[in-house]
Amino acid sequence: MLAGLAAPIPAVPARWLYDHRGSELFDEITRLDSYYPTATETKLLAEIAPELCNHIPSGLAVIEFGSGSSTKTPLLLDAIKPAAYVPVDISGDYLESSAAEIRARYPQLPVHPVAADFGKPFDLPREVASLPRLGFFPGSTIGNFVPRSATDLLRHFRILLGTGSLLLIGMDRIKPVERLLAAYDEPEGVTAQFNLNLIQRINRELDGTIPGDSFRHEARWNDILSRIEMHLVATRDVEFSVAGKPFSFAAGSSIHTENSHKYEQRGARLLLLAGGWTPIAEWTDPDGDFSIILAQSQPDRFAP
Ligand code: AVJ
Repeated sequence: MLAGLAAPIPAVPARWLYDHRGSELFDEITRLDSYYPTATETKLLAEIAPELCNHIPSGLAVIEFGSGSSTKTPLLLDAIKPAAYVPVDISGDYLESSAAEIRARYPQLPVHPVAADFGKPFDLPREVASLPRLGFFPGSTIGNFVPRSATDLLRHFRILLGTGSLLLIGMDRIKPVERLLAAYDEPEGVTAQFNLNLIQRINRELDGTIPGDSFRHEARWNDILSRIEMHLVATRDVEFSVAGKPFSFAAGSSIHTENSHKYEQRGARLLLLAGGWTPIAEWTDPDGDFSIILAQSQPDRFAP
């Protein structure tokens, strides 16, 4: 975190945005009209639910990566007949409350929450060791990772879940820049609060002295890298310290806080293939805004 802030192009790992307050603000973002991904993916998932059981066998353990408030989970659990549910999330309190909701809704379903950063190595609960697995990675969270890291992550999921496993993943599509920017910088200013919450977190947890009004939220479309970037831009020349280390930012310079990569159809498939997952089915909403892809980790074999 400190190294990122001091780097030639200052950047902070995006997971720093998701403390308790940040997760609350993100939840609020998902309810905004301008933030199309959540509503579009939820509707799409509800629509394809009857079809999912044609591709996904019953009796598997569902492993959800970054389960957050688990709002889309019932749509999946209702559609397939799972044998266990394993939500994995970095935020422990969010994890427990959403696990409790799922238990209340599905009293027969074993729920084994894992408090972990899904980007780092962790073990699956012993109880699901002998079950076939379906990874569930909705929300276009994969878009947070630069393609090289996204590939590493997909490969890590492949090792964790094993060959023959399935992965159901949501990926946001490329669309006109105006709509993309509107989704990440809306008049309500919730995304701005979400981004600026990072400053409060740094001040609180890392003994920072960043003046509250010295940075503003900015969303940018980086066309060549096909991503929305969130930045905190210095509103004036500013000096502060974090964990006793001095920093100075010139007016207009920025801290890069999050990426949200967007993929067109073949790019999405190629990313999955590069990560060791073969797409086997794919669904998109009528406007082509968001896609849900089912992929399988096939065993290594000789290739021509
Ligand atoms: C949780 C990473 C999918 O990139 O759209 C929303 C995060 N940031 N608005 C996204 C986010 C600002 C979101 N993901």
